[in-house]
Amino acid sequence: PKRIFSGIQPTGSIHLGNYLGAIAQWINLQNNNEDLILCIADLHSITLPHEPENLSRNIIELAATLLGCGIDPERTILFQQSNVPAHAELSWCLGCISTMARLAHLPQYKEKSASLKDIPLGLYIYPVLQAADILTYKATHVPVGEDQIQQIQLCQELARMFNNRYGQTFPIPHTLITSSEYGRIKSLRDPSKKMSKSDPDAKSRICLTDSIDDIVSKIKKAVTDCTSQVTYNPDERPGVSNLISIHSFVTKKSVGDICREVEGLNTGQYKTVVADAVVSYVKPIQESIARYINDQGYLLEILNIGKNRASEIANENLKQVHENLGLKVPL
Ligand code: TYM
Repeated sequence: PKRIFSGIQPTGSIHLGNYLGAIAQWINLQNNNEDLILCIADLHSITLPHEPENLSRNIIELAATLLGCGIDPERTILFQQSNVPAHAELSWCLGCISTMARLAHLPQYKEKSASLKDIPLGLYIYPVLQAADILTYKATHVPVGEDQIQQIQLCQELARMFNNRYGQTFPIPHTLITSSEYGRIKSLRDPSKKMSKSDPDAKSRICLTDSIDDIVSKIKKAVTDCTSQVTYNPDERPGVSNLISIHSFVTKKSVGDICREVEGLNTGQYKTVVADAVVSYVKPIQESIARYINDQGYLLEILNIGKNRASEIANENLKQVHENLGLKVPL
């Protein structure tokens, strides 16, 4: 059976990259009645030093954000990773078949560890925990943005390796990428980089919870290039093309239609058009998020229901893992 799983870290506010690359895809799948499990990956958010108070607030805010975006907790299982201990346990089992050489090769590890003198072990084994998230539910499909592709590849390898050594246990999960336009939204300050929660410059990203004024000013200041026409060419003109992608998403118009419509505008004028379109799209989502944030009792109840539903599946699968590994001693 088809089962879709994905996760998102509760570090900082959710931005348009997360939304276009992942969340919007989740909503579509959910609304097509797919079996969807979504994990607030809080254990992944402690790999680098963090403030405990911020983390717990971010977890609640993320739950509110996902509901505000349209995740329906009746249809989709929404839960907190640390509430289901099976993830951490399977992570250990998969860690035992992972090699250090393989993990050291992953681009996200290289990037994040490059500036560190002492590298936390958690940063190194981060992708093993991510593989465990997916395999705990025997997921068949994983909808993510492009930056997650290598991590899912590791998951596929670990699933194959486990199956070969210990008998058929896990399906090999497929990666689902929304499209090349939305799978990698760029930083507004440096279009050679992806829009990211961890970029120290807040102007590089548009968060769903930004004020309307901030959204407008960030888009107006977005870095483009010296050409004033509006043309779509992601390789040669990543800055404007990124704005066109965002614009196309929020208006549901094709990139070609947009370029024809705005012919004659310069990039400065075009930014105003994009800002207006983004604001109209984001405003109702913001209002919905704000309503959920004020109802913490409800959010906790949703997370608790999610925990119970997720645990049921996870524990069943973990039992089989124990058996296949020979951990279960017959009486
Ligand atoms: P995270 O929290 O960094 O991002 C959540 C999702 O948003 C996507 N994304 C983007 N998509 C397009 N353009 C961007 N600029 C952009 N930035 C982020 C990400 O690809 C992701 O889909 N390790 C994961 C969380 C995770 C997970 C999992 C995902 C934990 N366990 C199991 C899938 C399956 C992460 O840090 O995502």
